[in-house]
Amino acid sequence: MLSEGVKRIDHVAVVVRDLDTALHFYRDMLGITPSHVLDFPQEGVRIAFLPLGGTNGSEIELLEPVNPEGSVARFLEQRGGGLHHICLEVPDIDRALAELRAAGAQVLDAAPRPTAEGRGIFLHPKGTGGVLLELVQRTEAQ
Ligand code: CO
Repeated sequence: MLSEGVKRIDHVAVVVRDLDTALHFYRDMLGITPSHVLDFPQEGVRIAFLPLGGTNGSEIELLEPVNPEGSVARFLEQRGGGLHHICLEVPDIDRALAELRAAGAQVLDAAPRPTAEGRGIFLHPKGTGGVLLELVQRTEAQ
């Protein structure tokens, strides 16, 4: 068990073919104001962040693949748009990784990777009930 537990749902990531089309629904119909849109070349995507619930709330992240070689582009081509992963915030990602590996969890990363929010690891859907799961430690001042 994670000794420091899980703090909150950090974000839910949805792959979309076109950010503008997706924002027409999330922003213009649901009324969620994007906080920012970010190019994140490490993962080959542009991300629109849709915060909900204030400072301790969560976000919907819309991921538009911009690099056809990237894993999110492959996801879109093979499965169409849709839920990509759920992300949970933890206080200490290095500790969480060590504890999960010791417990035999199917962690996809040997070390935390830089993410749009801080540093994170991914767990294989086989061990999580069928959804790609990210754990993240947020960088301070975000
Ligand atoms: Co994420």
